[in-house]
Amino acid sequence: MDYQAVLHDVWDAVRPVLGQGRVATYIPALAAVDPRRFGMALATVDGDVYGVGDWREPFSIQSISKVFTLAMALSRDGDAVWRRVGKEPSGNPFNSLVQLEYEHGIPRNPFINAGALVITDRLQQLTGDARGTLRDFLRAESGNPSVDFDPVIAASEAEHGHRNRALAHFMASYGNMESPVSEVLEHYFWQCSLAMSCADLARACGFLARHGERADGARLLTRSQAKQVNAVMLTCGTYDAAGEFAYRVGLPGKSGVGGGIIAVIPNRCGLCVWSPGLDAQGNSVAGMEALDQFTTLTGLSIF
Ligand code: DON
Repeated sequence: MDYQAVLHDVWDAVRPVLGQGRVATYIPALAAVDPRRFGMALATVDGDVYGVGDWREPFSIQSISKVFTLAMALSRDGDAVWRRVGKEPSGNPFNSLVQLEYEHGIPRNPFINAGALVITDRLQQLTGDARGTLRDFLRAESGNPSVDFDPVIAASEAEHGHRNRALAHFMASYGNMESPVSEVLEHYFWQCSLAMSCADLARACGFLARHGERADGARLLTRSQAKQVNAVMLTCGTYDAAGEFAYRVGLPGKSGVGGGIIAVIPNRCGLCVWSPGLDAQGNSVAGMEALDQFTTLTGLSIF
């Protein structure tokens, strides 16, 4: 298949929606980005990369980081991870507090903020440096040694992170935090601030297309664990829009409020699209449209 030509067709098809949606403003430093930016990249399981638009431009990965922290915690801790976090869709916004009280401090899944905080806590316990472990992993998988945190974004989120602080303390009150809350929050804010391009992220999610095998051929996850991560992405990766995403795109995917979305086509490639204008659920408008167009034009989906 001529991936470069397909990406150009997708780019043409999304032009009418570019600039739609609103950039995230609850983290003030994210609000500075032009909502009309658009980039998309595809990295095959063999390492070839194709891209269009702003596909080499780094952006704030935000919640996309949650896929990688989950994979790293699972690889070290196995099924024990699921004692502290569920794997069911929440049907609620990513930063919602309501379900947590009904469900006694056990978050619905690892991709809502509460669940990601639990995973970061676990990774911190397992490695002593959750954010550094994540950065090193992403440098290796993307093949880009300059992948790094953005201290301005991390500081902006820390300053305005009242909801995440509330979620973390609430879980601590149920005994579902092992490390000090302040330490977990700091690592979480830094992990969300990582700046990566579509090319970096399309490559970095390759291990999920290779059933758990890293870029250098080493195994991170068992085949079964890779299936689990892909399944949770499909059902929970875009929060209360996960049904809409599965319906339109038909791939495991994970969004972030920086406007990025990654998606995985098992055996074939990793995809990443970036456009900062978000819909009401916090997912990129043009990003959803681009992935919808991609799977429609190519017929490539898991269904
Ligand atoms: O914790 C937060 O609210 C942000 N750092 C990440 C949220 C996010 O990306 C949700 N995704 N659509």
